[in-house]
Amino acid sequence: MNNYKRTLVTCALPYANGPVHIGHLAGVYVPADIYVRYLRMKGEDVLYICGSDEHGVPITIKARSEGCSPQDIVDRYHKIIKDAFSGLGINFDIYGRTTSEVHQEGSAAFFRKLYDEGKFITRESEQYYDPEARQFLADRYIVGTCPKCGHEGAYGDQCEHCGSTLSPEELIDPKSKLSGAEPVKRKTTHWYLPLGDYEKWLSEWILDGHKEWRSNVYGQCKSWLDGGLQPRAVSRDLDWGVPVPVEGAEGKVLYVWFDAPIGYISNTRELLPQSWEKWWKSPDTKLVHFIGKDNIVFHCIVFPSMLKAHGGYILPDNVPANEFLNLEGDKISTSRNWAVWAHEYLRDFPGKEDVLRYVLTANAPQTADNDFSWKDFQARNNSELVAIFGNFVNRAVVLTHKYFGGSVPESGGLLDIDRETLAQIPRIKESMERNLEGYRFREALRDAMEIARTGNKYISDTEPWKVAKTDLVRTGTILNVCLQICADLAVAFEPFTPFAAGRLRRMLCVGLNAGTDHRKGEQETINTYRPGEGAAIHTGAVPSEGIVLSWDILGAEEILPAGHCIGEAELLFAKIEDEAIQKQLDRLAAIRAEREAAAKAEAAKHVAPQKAEVTFEQFDAMDIRTATVLEAERVPKTDKLLKLTIDTGIDKRTIVSGIAEYYTPEQMLGKQICILANLAPRTIRGIESKGMILMARQGDGTMRFITPAEVLSNGAQIG
Ligand code: 2FM
Ligand code: ZN
Repeated sequence: MNNYKRTLVTCALPYANGPVHIGHLAGVYVPADIYVRYLRMKGEDVLYICGSDEHGVPITIKARSEGCSPQDIVDRYHKIIKDAFSGLGINFDIYGRTTSEVHQEGSAAFFRKLYDEGKFITRESEQYYDPEARQFLADRYIVGTCPKCGHEGAYGDQCEHCGSTLSPEELIDPKSKLSGAEPVKRKTTHWYLPLGDYEKWLSEWILDGHKEWRSNVYGQCKSWLDGGLQPRAVSRDLDWGVPVPVEGAEGKVLYVWFDAPIGYISNTRELLPQSWEKWWKSPDTKLVHFIGKDNIVFHCIVFPSMLKAHGGYILPDNVPANEFLNLEGDKISTSRNWAVWAHEYLRDFPGKEDVLRYVLTANAPQTADNDFSWKDFQARNNSELVAIFGNFVNRAVVLTHKYFGGSVPESGGLLDIDRETLAQIPRIKESMERNLEGYRFREALRDAMEIARTGNKYISDTEPWKVAKTDLVRTGTILNVCLQICADLAVAFEPFTPFAAGRLRRMLCVGLNAGTDHRKGEQETINTYRPGEGAAIHTGAVPSEGIVLSWDILGAEEILPAGHCIGEAELLFAKIEDEAIQKQLDRLAAIRAEREAAAKAEAAKHVAPQKAEVTFEQFDAMDIRTATVLEAERVPKTDKLLKLTIDTGIDKRTIVSGIAEYYTPEQMLGKQICILANLAPRTIRGIESKGMILMARQGDGTMRFITPAEVLSNGAQIG
């Protein structure tokens, strides 16, 4: 695979200002976990690092809105996130925090070294300042009216209503979120990393040296580098974060994107205070960052430049960033509560941790954004995990108990169908390895499922339950083949569905010590597996949950020897009923309805600006009067037009009006309306239209006709 001696896997540190959702899981944590489990099964030395990102403005905003301290917020979400990960079987060697002492000290020292060596430049700039709260305002702390769509709650960096990226200067009528005061511009000085100095080096390292990176990652790097890199501020005026360790820098903290990636190093130091350096400084270590696509620039351009400026650190060998996952066709959004939250999933679907892992992998947004839907979730569980994988294993185990008392039967002479079936496994294994090592987890899962399909087809074709009536020797051979495939499945699915793989190992009574458990600390090395050492399985013993099978035995000839006793059949996967899915759909429908109602109410409030002035004479020239609709019909082949015959008091005439979107012909019949009578006639769809119906357009764009407060005679003049 490579000449590396060990692999350091990092996962993007989630912000501790909210729980993690399926988008995070699909993008970063599930793929990383698959990769780590696979490498460990291969006996490789792997360190798996993550933790909470506990700084940044959104955390301070959330604290303020809840009337608590930022520390309260991060304490709360750190626990929720950590528990959700472990509930899903995502067990990092350490899940640290950027508020830890080790990190505060480590990130400050990192900054200080670059500062002392003159690696930063300083720049004075004008930033918004709240004169009442007496502090500088981060972009998110400034709200005002969006210049693009008129939405009144736009932030200084983005309008969440229309999605435009903004700068605080663009906001109309900006206000401080802290005090409501009008912010003023004030000079402030910050430190910047001059990324331009690293441009050539980055270009050689990535564009020439890492053409194998995923095209979305490589493409983003190329466009940043082609565009030319500007200096990046590494400090902020804020009171939450790592204080800038320089005299005279009171009120300034490290920018969250400066300290967060150093968190990977801090967390490693916290776990392995004596031996962390071999993981970060030895060229024998392969470093892989798992991230989402919004983090690419920080992990491929900014952090590597920081490491280069510091010196002594290795760089990532790969940064397999995923695209985004949508939910039921809509962008996942924390602020709009449009998400499936990991901790709520675990509460609503106990014992189904693997199903989420499976579905998120099968639908992984590896090369393009992808969609999660509850119907697909149900279908993948019921018709893949239950009907193929679970069904096959169940039949093999139950029949072995029925005909052979739970003892693996002898394999008699193999027939072609047996040989051909078994020959599939090493072929699929090779494909799986290529896919796993190439970070194509969706494809690797498809391979694993192919093993289950192969087994399921084999047992259906050979029908051991029928053969048993006449030929127990042949039945034994068939079940022997089936049980070998079951053992293959316990290996192949361990990275993807580790809980089910554990149940399967228990059913088959197999297990093998594997991996180095860094969670136990650096002295203790337990469960060490070395390829080629000892038997592939422990027979007889009931394996513990933490013991997995070695990858090497996948596709081996006789994983389960004849005579080995297997355990009782257990349910590998259970069907998910419609009610459970409907409950989730109802929850989302309620959120959607609430959002739409709020958006409508908000839009209706929007008042169009006043038009240019007119003179009295111009107004007086318009003949506006009352009229009654006598006949109404749709104009054929149009969606918007109604043809109305009206009594104007002066005459009976035809007006073609674009109101069919808002009114049916029946709704218009007999209604008294107001018209502009002396509008020059126009021919619309071959019909001469004389005049115009007066309509009021609301903020959300919908229109209603104007009717007098009481019925008047037709032709009454308005003005
Ligand atoms: O995008 C995010 O959620 C960031 N908190 C990721 C940080 S990754 C690393 F640099 F710490
Ligand atoms: Zn807007």
